[in-house]
Amino acid sequence: MIDCRVNHGYNRDIQRGHNVEYEPRIVGFLCNWCAYRAADLVGTIRKPYTANLRTIRCTCTGRISPELILRTLKAGADGVLVVGCHPGECHRGDGNLKALRRISMLRRLMEQVGIEPNRVQLAWTAASEGARFAEVADRMELQIRQMGPLTNDLLPSRGASSLSSLSGR
Ligand code: FES
Repeated sequence: MIDCRVNHGYNRDIQRGHNVEYEPRIVGFLCNWCAYRAADLVGTIRKPYTANLRTIRCTCTGRISPELILRTLKAGADGVLVVGCHPGECHRGDGNLKALRRISMLRRLMEQVGIEPNRVQLAWTAASEGARFAEVADRMELQIRQMGPLTNDLLPSRGASSLSSLSGR
């Protein structure tokens, strides 16, 4: 469960005039077969990368619906990173290509309602590409840091249900 209190605490500190250092809160959905193993490899090769990415292992990026991404943002994440196998290498068939279509649609929709589309990103890695995974995570963290916290007011309160058709279910 994602804790949404961090942003609220941040806003409260800003209102009180406290000088707080903003730390982006990014949730990463990693497919078990390539991305999660790449993330594991980052630790093995001891390459430092952002500590602001909370990773969640999933069976395939094809399981990550726009509804879940919106719920994650609504719950307090400033960004969502979905990482799967390279095109043509999905262990579940074409789940990564489904994810590509869904996330592309979601990003267009976000832009229309005034949310930076780069708050939701999709990337590919192989299990052997630990360094690449770290670069993707660091690059996204930098982009989110520049954007600042996500204002949850922009997210439709019933956005999950109104976008459920995008999930293909
Ligand atoms: Fe990795 Fe489908 S199994 S994206």
